[in-house]
Amino acid sequence: MKPFLAIVLCCSFFSSRATPLPFEFSDCDDPDVLEAVDTALKKYNGDRTTGNQFALYMVMEGKKTVSPDTQFYVKYQIRETSCAIEENKHWKDCDYKAPAEAKTGECTARVHINKAEKTSNVSQDCKTVPATATIIPTEALCLGCYYPISSDSLQVSEILKQAIQKFNRHSDEAALFKLVEIKEAKRQVVAGWNYIIKYEIKETNCSKDQFQDLSPECKTTSTGVSNLQNLDVKDSKKETVDPPTLICAGCPRPIPKTSPELKELLEVSMEKYNLETNDDFYYKAGDIEKATVQVVAGKSYRITFTVKKTNCSKKEFEKLNEDCEATPNSVRLKCEAQIYVIPWENKILPQVNCTEELLPV
Ligand SMILES: *[C@@H]1O[C@H](CO)[C@@H](O)[C@H](O)[C@H]1NC(C)=O
Ligand SMILES: *[C@@H]1O[C@H](CO)[C@@H](O)[C@H](O)[C@H]1NC(C)=O
Ligand SMILES: *[C@@H]1O[C@H](CO)[C@@H](O)[C@H](O)[C@H]1NC(C)=O
Ligand SMILES: *[C@@H]1O[C@H](CO)[C@@H](O)[C@H](O)[C@H]1NC(C)=O
Repeated sequence: MKPFLAIVLCCSFFSSRATPLPFEFSDCDDPDVLEAVDTALKKYNGDRTTGNQFALYMVMEGKKTVSPDTQFYVKYQIRETSCAIEENKHWKDCDYKAPAEAKTGECTARVHINKAEKTSNVSQDCKTVPATATIIPTEALCLGCYYPISSDSLQVSEILKQAIQKFNRHSDEAALFKLVEIKEAKRQVVAGWNYIIKYEIKETNCSKDQFQDLSPECKTTSTGVSNLQNLDVKDSKKETVDPPTLICAGCPRPIPKTSPELKELLEVSMEKYNLETNDDFYYKAGDIEKATVQVVAGKSYRITFTVKKTNCSKKEFEKLNEDCEATPNSVRLKCEAQIYVIPWENKILPQVNCTEELLPV
């Protein structure tokens, strides 16, 4: 698998909000951010003398200073490739190792790029871990999926504080219960956040008669009862504060149906589709219903559109051409295309699925 096939999902989970940095948040599709990541990664690969190169897997966060002297703060994930360091290749030209064999890692870097002098200064910290078969790349592709989050994050402790307070207020127990361990915390990016948290609470020596709320002197006791809890919270109040576009700068975001680049992408998609179908006639693209783009090491487009059967048969014509028209009662299909565009390789890789459902005319 080529590195570009991995989605660069820039979900900047604004955890640093509490401690403001002198940075502004930038989109991960900001070419400058990708350049900073590229610079940092090349440095990381260049500094190593043995082993294999790492390629970009995912840009997690990108910030840059507003001042004319641009400085970047980037956080990105990397994955081992099959190119040996000595081969001196660009990481973009290397294939990922199979997930079960690839080391993975995460880097945070400060990158100073002086465009005028074409110099850069990188200070970064990368942590790599040996291959694990448990990382499923497709999980990272899904905007609406749940992602594991660190259980010591501020949001999780705030949510649990409230949940345990509520438990203590409403339970039939005589004593107050206290958090012992967070077993699991996951979050879903929607219009706001959804959290799923599994945690354990335990009875303390503070009775509800004496104490209204937990205090530091309430300790769990060895004989105390413990209790596993599951929490599913919708944190929709965030909606007004962090609109999803801000939360998830590099996640798939809608683009206007009239965006000029879509025309070419649809053409390429239809070419592929027509090549693959057994139908004797060419199909051509009709209306676009929806289109999104996601920044990858390249770009990933997703377009929902309709296609119509034309009056051009494959026997007669080598290709779909402008004179091919849909006949009045022609078959219409609903299609979903996913298209990877890799500018530096001049490649457009479409994948089109159409359902043979007749749409209301
Ligand atoms: C590079 O960055 C380090 C750490 O931020 C700094 O001390 C050093 O002066 C920088 N060097 C140049 C040439 O900018
Ligand atoms: C609970 O136990 C702790 C430590 O054993 C003790 O310091 C504290 O005073 C106790 N609290 C109550 C309300 O008994
Ligand atoms: C398809 O239909 C259009 C419009 O009716 C017509 O101009 C064109 O010549 C037709 N093409 C074929 C191959 O029949
Ligand atoms: C097309 O269908 C295949 C197989 O069901 C699926 O893996 C793929 O994700 C689909 N692609 C799109 C763009 O919907």
